[in-house]
Amino acid sequence: MAAVTITDPAVIRGEVSASRAAGRVVGFVPTMGALHAGHLALVEQATRECDDVAVSIFVNPTQFGPGEDFERYPRTLDRDLDSLSRLRVRWVFTPTEAAMYPHGAATRVVVAGPACGYEGTIRPGHFSGVATVVCRLFLSVPADRAYFGAKDWQQTRVIERMVRDLGLPIAVVVCPTVREPDGLAMSSRNAYLAPEDRSRAVALSESLREAAAAWDAGADVNGIEAAMRTRLESRGIVVDYVAIADAESLGQVVTGQPAVALVAGRLGSTRLIDNRLLSPRVG
Ligand code: PAJ
Repeated sequence: MAAVTITDPAVIRGEVSASRAAGRVVGFVPTMGALHAGHLALVEQATRECDDVAVSIFVNPTQFGPGEDFERYPRTLDRDLDSLSRLRVRWVFTPTEAAMYPHGAATRVVVAGPACGYEGTIRPGHFSGVATVVCRLFLSVPADRAYFGAKDWQQTRVIERMVRDLGLPIAVVVCPTVREPDGLAMSSRNAYLAPEDRSRAVALSESLREAAAAWDAGADVNGIEAAMRTRLESRGIVVDYVAIADAESLGQVVTGQPAVALVAGRLGSTRLIDNRLLSPRVG
């Protein structure tokens, strides 16, 4: 059955609540649209694990900083609805800006901890915008489980921390990153890349693969980070950061705990991020 598109938060809240009251497990996939195979993999996982699935499409203004790409962010609603019609999605939630942020809205959710550093430093206010809209979306779509991509690793840490700290009654599920055949992580922003930048962009995932190999071989963190930076810069990528961090807190690596390699860089006016989980190592 084709998904129903709902714009009113009260209406989708009623539908989701009724479904759960009938004993069905509801999954929720928040997105900003311009859907690609990475988003659709989240939706597919949700449809496998849940009885009913809601997908939201909302380009959230509060998570874009001044001078970022809010205006030019791709908006492809008809194509998105077409992609979702092939999957077992029950509701597509497309709220208006006025519904998400009522006139005079003065409330923000601010997460510290994992929101500090990396994207939090380069994009001040970004994670507060993400946390605020995700909290607002969770109130409109009171699902059992919400699905997020490991592609935005720091975002998953911020949302998990918000859910834990506020006691939000929803389980956060993190799904693997979907990549292009050459390893580039799929992103709505890849569409901005000029052809020569697109071929250089593979250096991000290559630098992460090398970092993982060096990590497994016992190399020290500073050496791995320096090698990543060198590889990226040699391909003309302007590096915002490279880092090996604790996978959970994003603070310093802790012996015996999972770590994550993080990378962010710019090709022309396009900014890309990627990451790779590293296995815990002892000693
Ligand atoms: P958006 O960038 O549209 O991404 C929606 C979801 O898809 C996020 O959980 C993101 O991590 C996931 N995703 C994107 N590319 C992916 C890939 N290549 N593989 C796997 N998952 C991928 O992230 C946002 O929107 C927003 O910040 C949002 C959470 C919706 C709040 O506005």
